Amino acid sequence: MNLADKDRRYVWHPFTQMRDWAAAEPLIIARAEGNELIDVDGRRYLDGVSSLWVNVHGHHRRELDDAVRAQLDRVAHSTLLGLANVPSIELAERLVQIAPPGLARVFYSDSGSTAVEVALKIAFQYQKQRGRAEKSKFLALTDAYHGDTVGAVSVGGIDLFHEIFHPLLFHVLRVEPKIDALERMLAAHAHELAAFVVEPLVQGAAGMLMQPPGFLRAARELCTKHDVLLVCDEVATGFGRTGTMFACEQEAVAPDLMCLAKGISGGYLPLAATLATEAVHAAFLGKYEQKLTFFHGHTYTGNPLACAAGIASLDLFEREHVLEKLQPKIARLHARLDERIAPLSRVVEVRRRGFMVGIELGPYAYEQAIGARVCADVRKRGVILRPLGNVIVLMPPLSITDDEIDRLVDATRASIVEVCGA
Ligand SMILES: Cc1ncc(COP(=O)(O)O)c(C=O)c1O
Repeated sequence: MNLADKDRRYVWHPFTQMRDWAAAEPLIIARAEGNELIDVDGRRYLDGVSSLWVNVHGHHRRELDDAVRAQLDRVAHSTLLGLANVPSIELAERLVQIAPPGLARVFYSDSGSTAVEVALKIAFQYQKQRGRAEKSKFLALTDAYHGDTVGAVSVGGIDLFHEIFHPLLFHVLRVEPKIDALERMLAAHAHELAAFVVEPLVQGAAGMLMQPPGFLRAARELCTKHDVLLVCDEVATGFGRTGTMFACEQEAVAPDLMCLAKGISGGYLPLAATLATEAVHAAFLGKYEQKLTFFHGHTYTGNPLACAAGIASLDLFEREHVLEKLQPKIARLHARLDERIAPLSRVVEVRRRGFMVGIELGPYAYEQAIGARVCADVRKRGVILRPLGNVIVLMPPLSITDDEIDRLVDATRASIVEVCGA
């Protein structure tokens, strides 16, 4: 059996109809350089979605490779249950330094979903332990996406992915991202709400939906007024993706809990963190026998290799002025989208914030799998993209060059024209 046959024989791929997969030739990545992935036959592909929204500084970055190797020479893993380790301490300090003000404590886990699960459980237990047990429900946005574990799915609202699991989920109140709707919802339900959970500025998996300006700021003020915790899920938006280190900064918002994953390790290793304020953390302090402890933890929490990558990534942000250098790249990307993509007849809308871009095609029925077809075509042009239904997502690494931005947009345009007509 060759590698492709073995993949088809043994591997169950996520979010993938395996009958179609079995009939197709898998693209097998063997290595990578900069912003390109390289397959087993040596063909190069521009990584147009940052390997599912995680890669920040490019692949095979010497500084990140060196940091992980150096850590490997010390220790690959030791637990945070009852022990501490060097990189997890150093990264926690760095995260608190760059996070919105007030976030003071770092609880590690290993994926975006677990970062959200942790936030939900902390919020729930926090309310109980400060004597407000009746505040036990969650409010989330319509079309929210917070991951695929059962708690994250409960606060999520994407029926295509999650409808079948409804009997497993807990009840969540739902609101559209509109200030007046949120105001009414909180006025009516704050007494029973532990927290409002929100993807700040951009709802990624919903198809790159942009929130109205001022919504996040209003959410912060309304949550404070109504004594409801604000949980910002920065799993997708964090680490520069919207043009600032965190999306919250753009509306001067400091949440009570913030979920980080994806770009936290530069896109190198599975790592996540849930940041909490001192006030939230304080509700978990008490005598051993009071059982106020947060009884939650994942085996690989605070993994030293992943944390070493995270520190090296933040070093690169600082040393290379990544966020400053990003601004002209964002301007270039947006200008190219306006010139080359927006005028196409089957492009309904080009939504963008920083390096998070959604190109909606339409009108097309689900069965037409238009996004998948465009992404299959663009692969022939040496670019990797992954759609969300009828929406083509572009989310390149922050390290993408000007020439690569042009290549990305030109290939996307050519594929839309090829598949949808001019
Ligand atoms: C906003 C948001 N939260 C949570 C997640 C889940 O992250 P993970 O896939 O690492 O569990 C995602 C993944 O796309 C996300 O976009």
